[in-house]
Amino acid sequence: MAKPNLQVALDNNTLESALGDIRAVGNIVDIVEAGTILILQEGTIAVRALRALFPDKVVIADTKCADAGSTVAKNMADAGADWMTCICSATIPTIQAAQKQVKEIQIELYGNWTKEDAQSWLDIGVTQAIYHQSRDALLSGGSWGEKDLAKVKMLVDMGFRVSVTGGLSVDTLKLFAGVDVYTFIAGRAITQAPDPAKAATDFQNEIIRIWGK
Ligand code: 5RP
Repeated sequence: MAKPNLQVALDNNTLESALGDIRAVGNIVDIVEAGTILILQEGTIAVRALRALFPDKVVIADTKCADAGSTVAKNMADAGADWMTCICSATIPTIQAAQKQVKEIQIELYGNWTKEDAQSWLDIGVTQAIYHQSRDALLSGGSWGEKDLAKVKMLVDMGFRVSVTGGLSVDTLKLFAGVDVYTFIAGRAITQAPDPAKAATDFQNEIIRIWGK
């Protein structure tokens, strides 16, 4: 089983603040994400800045695209994004249009989706899914548990590379021991930590402790 990647999600309200965070942790994490909040605030300028700073890392635009897949994906690709997210309720034509513009599409799983939906994404060549606990669900008292593990395992068994995200802490990771998680995505637990570089290093060390190098 490969070591899961660590991805930092930059959900900052300003580019200046995002750049401060990524300068602190960019060399520690494996993948860099322009988060939805940052993209809504700053647009493709944020993606462009991350690409310029990290020419050799995977840069993700977390657009959670629901429509106009071709235009949104072309804009993100032109700005330097490798991968882009589409929300799971997007239609297959939207996802296919986006696929033509960026290297890979990741499906963001929120709310209601079925195994049949997941198979329809595989059928069009999408092999990445992001299993997500929304921050609003977590704020309303939700938590990570066996129900999530079962869905992540089902997606892995179907052949997806699965990223896991939503209010993750270093402590959450052990729930997934033995599961072939592709990437853990952490935002606030890194960027809002008193020492973001230490927080990112703690995540990497825990991933290595559980999955090996
Ligand atoms: C919110 C997101 C976040 O980027 C993702 O959930 C990681 O952030 P955090 O660890 O702060 O929850 O996609 O929609």
